[in-house]
Amino acid sequence: MLADREVALRLASNIDVDRKLVGEPERVKIISFRGGYHGLHFGGMSACGGDAWRRTYEPMMPGFINCEWPNLYRPPFDGLSPERLVELCAGLLEREINYQQPDTIAAIIAEPIQGAGGVNVPPASWFPKVRELCDRYKILLIADEVITGLGRAGTLFGSRLWTTKPDIMSMAKGVTSGYIPFGATLINQRMANAWDAAGPRAVVMHGYTYSGHPVGCAAGLAAINIAERENLAENARTVGEYFLQKLAAVRDKHEVIGDIRGRGLMIAVELVKNRKTREPFSPLDRYPGEISNLCVSSGVMLRTIVNKFIISPPLIFTRAHVDEVVDVFDRALTRHPYKPD
Ligand SMILES: Cc1ncc(COP(=O)(O)O)c(C=O)c1O
Repeated sequence: MLADREVALRLASNIDVDRKLVGEPERVKIISFRGGYHGLHFGGMSACGGDAWRRTYEPMMPGFINCEWPNLYRPPFDGLSPERLVELCAGLLEREINYQQPDTIAAIIAEPIQGAGGVNVPPASWFPKVRELCDRYKILLIADEVITGLGRAGTLFGSRLWTTKPDIMSMAKGVTSGYIPFGATLINQRMANAWDAAGPRAVVMHGYTYSGHPVGCAAGLAAINIAERENLAENARTVGEYFLQKLAAVRDKHEVIGDIRGRGLMIAVELVKNRKTREPFSPLDRYPGEISNLCVSSGVMLRTIVNKFIISPPLIFTRAHVDEVVDVFDRALTRHPYKPD
């Protein structure tokens, strides 16, 4: 539901945390990250950090700025340890904040783990650093928890992986377990207080035909109850660890697998033409699609994004399910090995 991010972006550029509402009306810019995905409505798309999502509709909305993300497999700068990479990306982020003028920036929006961009798990020190910069410059932090919300990454919210508290969270998919289209925007107490104190001036000119739909709310409450009762986040964590171990063994057998990464039941397998150079397959290469088709013919659907398979099964997945998926994938690669031209 696109409404959750649209609300988040609007709230962030509407409210000033310290001087109550509209105390700093120039705080309107939004910073996001390369590789980030926030939906295809104009607000979200303007924050997206990938050509494919933006190209057709450029120019995007003004005031959206993209900064470097500490991508560990395809880092923006080579040869750095994860800690150095974080320092460098955080340094560039701070430089950009200062260049833009801190009092013009409303919020930084980020996924706790980049999903559609390729399941890019940041180093553990990244989000605490981003939070620190937000606090230093009075910028709000929006966590786009559309994928990570409600257990997928092995914690109830993805932000908890990094012990970072966002000011705003947007959620959708997992909030109703996907059974009913529904999204939610959550704000922290600090924002709620500023809102209350602002009184009648605090109008969020925002609404959709189906906003606050009772069926969505009921489905959300039911899904949250089940997720807590059945401890689905913990299941995602343990089964996800097992999944990554099993895939690591498959990687050892097939040179074409460049990287395996993820957290909980949010996993990516990246194929490469050359493991050493990490040369990626292009959208014109047929090999990844052929592997995907072979898997489908054996009953396993892997979401294929050019050279990556994104694996996000239901949170009730078991080790037996993992064994089956990994076995089908392994057999497909064995039956149809990659042969460079
Ligand atoms: C992190 C994230 N944000 C936003 C979206 C887009 O959500 P919607 O299609 O409801 O706009 C997605 C969809 O995959 C997503 O993964």
